[in-house]
This record gives sequence, structure tokens and C-alpha cells, in this order.
Amino acid sequence: MTVLTTQVAIIGGGPSGLLLSQLLNNAGVETVILERSTREHVLSRIRAGILEWGTVELLREAGVGARMDSEGIPHDGCYMTDDELMVHIDFKELTGKRVMVYGQTEVTRDLYQAQDAAGTTVLHGVSDVEIHDLDQTKSYVEFTREGARKRLECLYVAGCDGFHGVSRKTIPAEKRREFERVYPFGWLGILSETPPVNDELIYSNSRHGFALASMRNANLVRYYVQVPLSDTVEDWSDQRFWDAFSLRIPSEAAAHLVTGPSIEKSIAPLRSFVSEPLRWGNLFLVGDSAHIVPPTGAKGLNLAASDVYYLYSALIDAVKGAGTTGIDAYSTRALARIWKAMRFSWQMTTMMHRFDGEDAFAEQMRKATLAHLATSEAARRDLAENYIGLPF
Ligand code: FAD
Ligand code: DHB
Repeated sequence: MTVLTTQVAIIGGGPSGLLLSQLLNNAGVETVILERSTREHVLSRIRAGILEWGTVELLREAGVGARMDSEGIPHDGCYMTDDELMVHIDFKELTGKRVMVYGQTEVTRDLYQAQDAAGTTVLHGVSDVEIHDLDQTKSYVEFTREGARKRLECLYVAGCDGFHGVSRKTIPAEKRREFERVYPFGWLGILSETPPVNDELIYSNSRHGFALASMRNANLVRYYVQVPLSDTVEDWSDQRFWDAFSLRIPSEAAAHLVTGPSIEKSIAPLRSFVSEPLRWGNLFLVGDSAHIVPPTGAKGLNLAASDVYYLYSALIDAVKGAGTTGIDAYSTRALARIWKAMRFSWQMTTMMHRFDGEDAFAEQMRKATLAHLATSEAARRDLAENYIGLPF
């Protein structure tokens, strides 16, 4: 069997795995990344679009901020709306901070390029990954690639393999505590080469259901509508999407809507999920492998980045013999921030979506929450503080 050796084995070549690897490599710590899919597949997934400023600064620190700084669009605010009521949340005025519109696909592309330049081994097309000896001084990962079984020996393993990965499941079920809330709807998202309907994002609660107007650049929009879980992409022609979307955003905004063909269309289910702890012996869970948030509030990718922030310097210390205080504290420190982002994403989801079978009281609670937001600067500041990202 071919045997490879590294200091930190990273399972998953999505944003968590790549960013962790980049930061470790910059400090002279060796990594090998094992990724199930092809690079083209990873880069074809259209996902998050909003970076908190802490994420922006971490990407800069990792040395991958140049294209983000030239092509990303800083946003100083967004709108939360209820039918025709448009509440402006001015992040800059309320918190002194802003967010960056820069797609996950671009972040991932920049990270792959930096990892290529660093000469990091990224093995694509791996399957049947198994993690062993997590309670020993040295651990190893076995996997199949190009028809052959291989072994990667390491000091630590970072489980960056997303919700459906193997890392979390390597922790014995009786040692894991899982918390979950599944929402009874999904988001249908489209990409279209049209100018944005508004300069800032619009999160829209309406009698017809939720809609979100986001963007990637001056001629590429990312729009979403809430759909029943039973719907498929085939149920949604472009025309049906545009009709639903324009009904759900305030008419003042809809008046500026430019429609066009969609170039991507997909449906994502909404879920809140946390698995504790994040550490099992030499294994550390990072990003979606340990937690999922519903996308309302744009926290998924940003939480992956804050996990990486807590873990990378801790791993550098551990690998270089400077102590294990950091890795010992990782799970507790990361979970404290994760739970706050869970609460915010759940609250935003509850405030902005129609739930099937809900009663008139629930609808009034949503409307009152948005009316309160319109009249209370304290409420807007609370939302802004969470949206731009709680401190690491
Ligand atoms: P992932 O991006 O899932 O990366 C994990 C990687 O591990 C993948 O490349 C996968 O191929 C690989 N992998 C999996 N299993 C194995 C294995 N056994 N062996 C080796 N490799 C493996 N967040 C937002 O903030 N806004 C959004 O609009 C938004 N939309 C989303 C839409 C969808 C459909 C999904 C799934 C997520 C969305 N998210 C969104 C969440 C955000 O994209 C994630 O939080 C982010 O991708 C987490 O990064 P990650 O690297 O931890 O996990
Ligand atoms: C995007 C996605 C989100 O979930 C969100 O809250 C804001 C923007 C996006 O894809 O652009």
C-alpha cells in the first residue's frame, strides 16, 4: 500500500479545508487535502455570497484577498421588507462595519490557486475514506484513489468534509450530541446575467412567501424564493420564477426588475444542525461537517471561516510543540460562536418565511417583528451586529 505522510490531514477541499490548509502552510505546517469530487465540480457549486468583515480579514491574512478586494463589492446595509414596508438596516451607521459581496465559488477558486502556488498536495477523486487511531500519538487516514487503497499518516485530522462527510460519523454515536431543526420549505435560487434590482440586498417577507434579492456583480444577480419541499427545479420555469419573485418584493423595487434567462437554478432545503463536540482525539470538525444553518442571514460560509480561525493557530502551536491549550479549547470556543449564529439564522428564518399551516397569530408576530425593526434603532442595531458578524 502507498503510504503518504503529513502533519495535518485535511478531509474535504471545500472552503473550510482549503482555507485551513492555506493558513497552516503559511506557517510552515504541512498538509494534504483529500477531496471526493473533481475540482471542476467543487467550483461549479453556487452557494454563499456574503462575507462578514472577519472573513474578509481572515482571507487577506491567508494571502488570498487580492481578487476579493478588487472584484468584491462592499455593502454598507440591506433591506428587510414586509409587503410594501422597506426597513433599511444601515450596518455602517449602526456598527461601523460592512460586509463584502463575493461569491463562495470565487473564494474557493482563489484558495485553489493559492494552494497550487504553495505546492500543496490536493488529491481529488478519493473515496471510502476511513480515519484511524485518533487516540494515538499518530493517526492515519485510509482512502481509495485510482483503484488503489492508500494510507496517509499524520499528527492531526481536520474534518472539513461537509454535512454528508465521514468525519463527524467517525466520532462514536454515543459520544455525539446532535441538535436539529428541519424547516418545511426550501429556497429555489437562480443566477441570471441581469443588473441587480437594488443596490443593496433585499430580504422580503410577503403574503406570497419569502424572497431574497442578492447579486454577484453589476450584471449578475442571485435571487431566491421560498418553495415547498416537494417542488423540483422542473416545476419552476424562468417565467414562473420571475412572476413569483416580482410579486414578493415591494412594488417600489419590482418596478426596477430586469428579467432574463437563468443560467443556474437549484433548490436547497433549510436546516439548523449542530453536532457536539467538535473534537475527538486528534480529529477536529470544521464548518458544515459539524453544523448547518438555514441560509437566511448568510452565516454558513462565515461560520466555517470562524471555525478555521479558532483552529489554525491552535494546530500550529500543537504541531510545533508550543502546547495544546489551543486545541484543547477549540470545541468550546468555536461552539460558543456557532450557537449565537444558530440563534440568529433561526430567528431570521422565522421572521421572514411563511410556514404551511401557520395560524393568523404567527403571521402577526412576523409583521410585528418587522414593524418593531422599522421603529426601533436598538432592534436594527441588534440585527446589524449579528449580520455583519459577531467578533471571533
Ligand atoms: P463544503 O462546502 O460542503 O465542503 C466539503 C467538501 O468535502 C466538499 O468539497 C465535498 O465534496 C467534500 N467531501 C464530502 N465528503 C467527503 C469525503 N467522504 N471524503 C472527501 N471529501 C469529501 N451559506 C450561505 O451563507 N449562503 C448561502 O446562500 C448558502 N447556500 C448554500 C446552498 C447549498 C446547496 C449548500 C449545501 C450550502 C449553502 N450554504 C450557504 C452554506 C455554505 O455553502 C457552507 O456553509 C459552506 O460551503 C461550508 O464549507 P465547508 O468547506 O465546511 O463544506
Ligand atoms: C446570498 C445567500 C444568502 O443566504 C444570503 O443570506 C445572502 C446572500 C447569496 O447567495 O448571494
